[in-house]
Amino acid sequence: MYEHLLTETVAQITTITINRPTKLNALHAETIVELHEAFKMADRDLNTKVIIITGSGEKAFVAGADIREFSDFSIAEGKQLAAHGHRVLFDYVANLSTPVIAAINGFALGGGLELAMAAHIRVASTTAKLGLPEVSLGLIPGYGGTQRLPQLVGKGRALELMMTASMIDAEKALQWGLVNHIIAPETVVSFATTLAKKIAKNSTVAIRAVLTAVNAGYQDGVNGFDTEISEFGHCFGTEDFKEGTTAFLEKRKADFPGC
Ligand code: COA
Repeated sequence: MYEHLLTETVAQITTITINRPTKLNALHAETIVELHEAFKMADRDLNTKVIIITGSGEKAFVAGADIREFSDFSIAEGKQLAAHGHRVLFDYVANLSTPVIAAINGFALGGGLELAMAAHIRVASTTAKLGLPEVSLGLIPGYGGTQRLPQLVGKGRALELMMTASMIDAEKALQWGLVNHIIAPETVVSFATTLAKKIAKNSTVAIRAVLTAVNAGYQDGVNGFDTEISEFGHCFGTEDFKEGTTAFLEKRKADFPGC
């Protein structure tokens, strides 16, 4: 179905694997379009509760946007490249109503780290190396990195990482709060799956509301507290709320209908 991706849905968890290992899974235009389709399909699939994104091979999650593709771009083409990427992939993933976990199995550089940062949770292999080295190419991060990295690690650390174009290892990424867990390389995806299963047990509509409320706090002109109040109120009209509270009072596990 896809030329550059593998997708698999098992037990309500869809895993999307970027599959260009000989190019360290670099994001070229076709991969970005396919990723948009795959995320859209998974988000609309009632049988998918959590999405995991990872890279194929042992070496890389994603080693960045495909440098070969934009090396002769004009100013207008550069702007268009970034705007299109934001719209169809990076902002798109960050604002999905299905939770996305990035299983960082190696290099996550440039657009690769930006994709991982657009995801809602990040787990990294002990072998992962993370960075935004764009200034070493005469560029800046163009897929949300200048905004999402400071949000995750603070302005000073973000500026240091971007301006030195250096890579940090998984240990430092954990210490900085850029990733939530460090896992042995062979189990990084299975650990992400375990996390996904825990999420999948909970109310889908409530999780969607959590994502909406948290994301609202990062949008200009939107008051996250107001969004929280509104989403909190909406929850009271859902079947999931009735089931969750009834199950608690009946001392049994909730079986959420997801509506
Ligand atoms: N764009 C296009 N191709 C890329 C790429 C990228 N971002 N990253 C890696 N590749 C390709 C290499 O060109 C090479 O292809 P080739 O075999 O056809 O020559 C292949 O992937 C393997 O990469 P290579 O550089 O040989 O591996 P390495 O182990 O020596 O180095 C990296 C690994 C990640 C350090 C190195 O590939 C690198 O610096 N990549 C670019 C990172 C970057 O600047 N990303 C931000 C882009 S905006």
